[in-house]
Amino acid sequence: MEIDEKCYGERPIYLDATYPVERRVDDLISRMTLEEKIAQLGSVWTRDLLTDGKLSSEKAGQLLKNGIGQITRIAGATSLPPNEVAELANEIQRFLVEKTRLGIPAIIHEECLSGFMAMSATTFPQAIGLASAWDPELVKEVSSVIREQMRATGAHQGLSPVLDVARDPRWGRVEETLGEDPYLVMTVGCAYIKGLQGERPGSGIIATIKHFAAHGFSEGGRNCAPVHVPPRELRDTFLLPFEAAVKEAGAGSVMNAYHDIDGIPCAASQELLTNILREKWGFKGFVVSDYGAIEMLQTFHHVAGSKKEAAKMALEAGIDIELPGVNYYGEPLIEAVREGLISEATIDEAVRRHLRAKFILGLFENPYVDAGKAPVVFDTPEHREIALKAACESIVLLKNENGVLPLSKNVGSIAVIGPSAASTRNLLGDYSYTAHLSKEKDAVPIVSILDGIKSMVSSDTAIHYAKGCEISGDSTDGFAEAIEAAKKAEVAIVVVGERSGLSANDTSGEGRDRADLRLPGVQEELIRAIHATGTPVVVVLINGRPLSIEWMAANVPAILEAWLPGEEGGNAVARVLFGDYNPAGRLPISFPGQSGQIPVYYSRKPSSWKDYVFASAKALFPFGHGLSYTKFEYSNLEISPDKVGPAGKVNISFDIMNTGERPGDEVVQLYVHDVIASLARPVKELKGFRRINLKAGEKKTLTFILSMDQLAFHNRDMNLVVEPGMFEVMVGSSSEDIKLTGSFEVVGKEREITGTRCFFCQVIAD
Ligand code: BGC
Repeated sequence: MEIDEKCYGERPIYLDATYPVERRVDDLISRMTLEEKIAQLGSVWTRDLLTDGKLSSEKAGQLLKNGIGQITRIAGATSLPPNEVAELANEIQRFLVEKTRLGIPAIIHEECLSGFMAMSATTFPQAIGLASAWDPELVKEVSSVIREQMRATGAHQGLSPVLDVARDPRWGRVEETLGEDPYLVMTVGCAYIKGLQGERPGSGIIATIKHFAAHGFSEGGRNCAPVHVPPRELRDTFLLPFEAAVKEAGAGSVMNAYHDIDGIPCAASQELLTNILREKWGFKGFVVSDYGAIEMLQTFHHVAGSKKEAAKMALEAGIDIELPGVNYYGEPLIEAVREGLISEATIDEAVRRHLRAKFILGLFENPYVDAGKAPVVFDTPEHREIALKAACESIVLLKNENGVLPLSKNVGSIAVIGPSAASTRNLLGDYSYTAHLSKEKDAVPIVSILDGIKSMVSSDTAIHYAKGCEISGDSTDGFAEAIEAAKKAEVAIVVVGERSGLSANDTSGEGRDRADLRLPGVQEELIRAIHATGTPVVVVLINGRPLSIEWMAANVPAILEAWLPGEEGGNAVARVLFGDYNPAGRLPISFPGQSGQIPVYYSRKPSSWKDYVFASAKALFPFGHGLSYTKFEYSNLEISPDKVGPAGKVNISFDIMNTGERPGDEVVQLYVHDVIASLARPVKELKGFRRINLKAGEKKTLTFILSMDQLAFHNRDMNLVVEPGMFEVMVGSSSEDIKLTGSFEVVGKEREITGTRCFFCQVIAD
């Protein structure tokens, strides 16, 4: 129905929610001055608006006079509790709505990698731990909590998830990723996006997929260093999760990566940000710059000689919004338009994308939140329960010789040793509030592993705690006390690993890359010293990334990888140690034996196999690896049909039975190998998985419905094709522990995929 504008009297169309979004956007843009438009392309740090912790009308009057596109972190840059964050958000919005000419509310963005980065917010396991659960539904639950908490404080956009496929564990940010495999990253990442964005935009948080693109495979594993990935590998491996996130999960925003690929900084890459993202994939959201990335075109990459040049380059490549402040998109952009260097139409396009998001969010109708209600959704028992479940599911049992684990709760005495045993801080990832902002005090109650163990064992169990050493540094002064503790105990639990964050004390996290992947400091020496006492040692690793732990893997009977497990980490680890939870987490990334093997990932090409003079080329612990306290048997593989057209589907079904004595989860993994192809193809690739719970003695039939679309790759002409030929099927418990094998054949002609494609393997369990 055509609506007669005149019927609406004086009320501008853009303020009338009965009009379609595009009409409202057009109307608003037609009313805006150049300064107002460009203000929509920037953001302002909350702290720059405050005096003595309160919104300063003078500062707001200066910085917000033309409106503003976004507000940078209210919760994540202050020490305010949730209700005060919400009040401040309301005050800022009120200023924009009431004191600026057009009254355009701002999008407030925050960080939310392992939970909303805010005081009192639930702290979940770091992303690498969430990926280890191999449980997309769990991740959706986690990000739904994040959505609820963020929304309650007035935020609208979260700068997560990280969809970088991580291929180099030297990179400190591996902990922020979902691992090395595009299928796992894509599946878990899409679940995260769906939970964060929710069902309705009006109550959702815009997900920001980052870092576009291929940030996880930089030169030497050094943050922001150039990425050397050829075009085909870029598309088939590194872009795949982003493509699915745009097409399947409807991610609302994209953040560029800092690095350059073959000389072109991603922030200036029209190919990535426009040709691929918008034109090929049909992305309709907006692109934000990583913090300072536009400036870096001038000061880091040296591809722009001036602010104006950098701004033009980024905008024309496809970056709509400059974060975190207005620096290059402010005055320099205004001048560039006035001088005719950039057309106003280009500005309008970026403004349009941002305003569209604001209308879709319902910001004009509901700019405020009920601040009094905000605390109600923070740190509730239900949220803690989800944090505990996530931590439990994320733990990977790497080794368990002779069934050392689980331990008995009635053990007479245990030693709990190590720099992370009594620490709460060390259980957090680099984008948790406490770690990121280097706070002295935890932002939410966190259970240490020592406390988790104390609350688990019988009242008769003697616990001997000793720190032993620090994470870094070479002091062995604490060894004697630790050795004494171990000698008095029947078993020694040694909690070692990395400390995550961005500061000089941190060994993992953004900007904390390492050349040597052994445990930092004297931690391995500490384990050797405890081992030498003869007391059985159980190592709990608190790591931001896979380390090379060769000696430990050979000598210590039991090793748990707990990653950075968050607020319930201590309870989760204790549950696994004492058998209240049967572990089933699986490695989302291969553990190298030695740093010199890097890159080491399971989906290698056939030619990448040769061993080194003194070392194997194989991973120490492979992708998908993880043990259980029970056993599973696989049988009766059936593949039908065994011949299929290139647009068809194949059902791969088999039985799985828990043949042990405890209930437990198994993570069933489906790998496929293209036997003969027109290009060298990986020896195997993950194409489906399912975490399934089976009681002792229980048997289920699983059917994986594999779409031939999933076999597509970019051929010599860079067309996405499904080629005919034989495909080997491998079903297993890890990428190296294959239980069943079979094959099918794709018959007929090569098929080119140009439009939509099926990304996911459906799994049915009876
Ligand atoms: C990181 C981004 C992050 C931003 C703001 C940058 O250094 O690369 O992932 O969102 O900082 O915190």
